[in-house]
Amino acid sequence: MIFKVLTLFPEVFQAPLESSMVGLARQRGLVTIEVSDIRSYTHDPHGTADDYQFGGGPGMVLKADPIFEAVDDVLSAHSVEQRAGIPIILTSPQGETLTQAMAQELSLAPEIVIICGHYAGVDERVRQHLVNREISIGDYVLTGGEIPALVLIDSVTRLIPGVVGSHENIEEDSITSGLLQHPLYTRPAEFRGMAAPEVLRSGHHAEILKWRRRESLSRTLERRRDLLDKAELTTDDLTYLRSLGYARPEHTP
Ligand SMILES: C[S@@+](CC[C@H](N)C(=O)[O-])C[C@H]1O[C@@H](n2cnc3c(N)ncnc32)[C@H](O)[C@@H]1O
Repeated sequence: MIFKVLTLFPEVFQAPLESSMVGLARQRGLVTIEVSDIRSYTHDPHGTADDYQFGGGPGMVLKADPIFEAVDDVLSAHSVEQRAGIPIILTSPQGETLTQAMAQELSLAPEIVIICGHYAGVDERVRQHLVNREISIGDYVLTGGEIPALVLIDSVTRLIPGVVGSHENIEEDSITSGLLQHPLYTRPAEFRGMAAPEVLRSGHHAEILKWRRRESLSRTLERRRDLLDKAELTTDDLTYLRSLGYARPEHTP
């Protein structure tokens, strides 16, 4: 998997992409991440990558020409047909909101281009004629697309086989499993008068699984009832949830 990031602030990417799981994934050759400076695709002495808005208004707009040129350059090895199959993503609060399912789908792409907007945003022609996807990381506005690009890279990279130690870890994660995960504990068993649940230390595998499932169900009911309404649930799950006052909506399979 190759990520090609286009940004006016390449330095933002250094530490997050060198550390932890993403850094290790790069060292092990599981992902390649190339960060290009949009400014290096400008042709005036000042390296002008942004300009005033036509029509007036506050904030500068990222110019279309260096961004088109940057994308042409990073995808120069591909034919027009191949290019059509590569996600060329614009980070934008106006885009579709990133979900785990979207990260899963993107993790299957061999190559992804991510364009980071900044200031007031990006010339509309980039959105209309260059990118084939716009992704938001949530309903709030950030100063630039660098953090959204990092969120995207991180969420996709951890789904690439071999990046996270055991695949089971990923499938048990909150959201991925359809529910929120059960609480986690580690040593010491007792700390400042707070004890880890006895059952987790009992060595009784079936009881541990049952406790975890119930904790996961009750936590999801408390915090994310919307997930529960869509989750795959067993008869035992439903019986337990009914005892907590949950009734499945009529239309749910
Ligand atoms: C200040 S924002 C511009 C917002 C723009 N004026 C608008 O109303 O849509 C600057 C850049 O940050 C990025 N950005 C900000 N919030 C984002 C979000 N929630 N998700 C993804 N990208 C975001 C985008 O690349 C955007 O072009």
